[in-house]
Amino acid sequence: MADEATTGRALRPATRVVRAGLPDAVPGAPYLPGPVFAAPYHAPGDPAQSPYTYGRFHNPTWTQYEAALEALEGGPCLLFPSGMAASAAVLATLVPPGGRIVMPTDSYYTTRVLSTQPFDGGWCAAQGIEVIQAPTAGNGLAEALAANAPRGVALLWLETPTNPALEVCDIAALSAQAHTMGALVVVDNTTATPLLQQPLALGADVCVVSDTKAMTGHADLVLGHVAVRDVALLERMRLWRTRLGVIPGPMEAWLAHRSLGTLQVRLAQQCATAQRVAERLATHPAVRVVRYPGLPGDPSHALATRQMQGFGGVISFELADGAAARRFFAATRLVSEATSFGGIHTSAECRARWGGDAVSEGFIRLSVGLEDADDLLADLTQALDTALGAR
Ligand SMILES: Cc1ncc(COP(=O)(O)O)c(C=O)c1O
Repeated sequence: MADEATTGRALRPATRVVRAGLPDAVPGAPYLPGPVFAAPYHAPGDPAQSPYTYGRFHNPTWTQYEAALEALEGGPCLLFPSGMAASAAVLATLVPPGGRIVMPTDSYYTTRVLSTQPFDGGWCAAQGIEVIQAPTAGNGLAEALAANAPRGVALLWLETPTNPALEVCDIAALSAQAHTMGALVVVDNTTATPLLQQPLALGADVCVVSDTKAMTGHADLVLGHVAVRDVALLERMRLWRTRLGVIPGPMEAWLAHRSLGTLQVRLAQQCATAQRVAERLATHPAVRVVRYPGLPGDPSHALATRQMQGFGGVISFELADGAAARRFFAATRLVSEATSFGGIHTSAECRARWGGDAVSEGFIRLSVGLEDADDLLADLTQALDTALGAR
């Protein structure tokens, strides 16, 4: 397949996602070989002589998709059966017993739950791991790092833009600060994807992504991956994956690879429509606050413009209260009331219904899909009119 060596110039994102991870052309073979379903593989004699031996250890369909991810992330990757399985592997293998984690108060709820209050007795707590939480906005994370530097910090966890508040933090500056104290830096890059933001190039050690979201984008599978700069870190997580058996299904890995080819066109369209939607929300009287890094007035705009190649398809906004949100959902025809984001279907939800996020009853996270932008704007406008009108 065409690469930089053959074309003599850096390939653009649309080309990279279409070609990523495809094997060399073989007459009669498909572009993307189908999923391999196997528990044992033929492996006579010394197991080290067989590239594949047993389905919990490795699988050619994972290898194929991991190669595609590496081409986008800029570092070797490991596939997991969900974003949370990827995050758990990072936390379990990169923080020593008694270590300290600095983590945002406003990152994905389950990641915070996993680190602070998982299972009976607690996992981090049982390991003597201390989790220090600070807000993503402002200097909270930098101050938490500085305050804990004398005691030592093992890992700085970042998520940017955050789900659901869409706060943005400076990956390069925080990575540089964390590295001066010997801490590893992890970035949850789920809302941006490696096409809109490259954490490893910005200085992070590890990148975690829920491929359930925009990476695969069709709302039909659950998957996650990690990317690293230092392969030794990856090998620790590979061992964790193999020993615990937290492995992805070959069908999911193959579907993800197939979906990757449209990532650039999906994101380009979602970013363009999201920009128009955010602008409409910002001027509608039913809306109290809109957060979208692409809005020039957003507190994150300057930093996001420096750090990202696009602002993504997720917007958050606030209506007056829970009753206004219910009227909005009852009136809309094109916005599915559902959790998750990054898919081709526009969806939204009140995050307060789950608990755990510091948001009001009227706070809505909206994920912009691939519907026609004018249709979507018309539908959103009438739903917001209804949300406002009946008050
Ligand atoms: C930012 C972020 N990270 C990680 C996850 C976990 O991903 P998964 O649901 O694939 O386990 C999510 C899920 O919503 C998320 O929003």
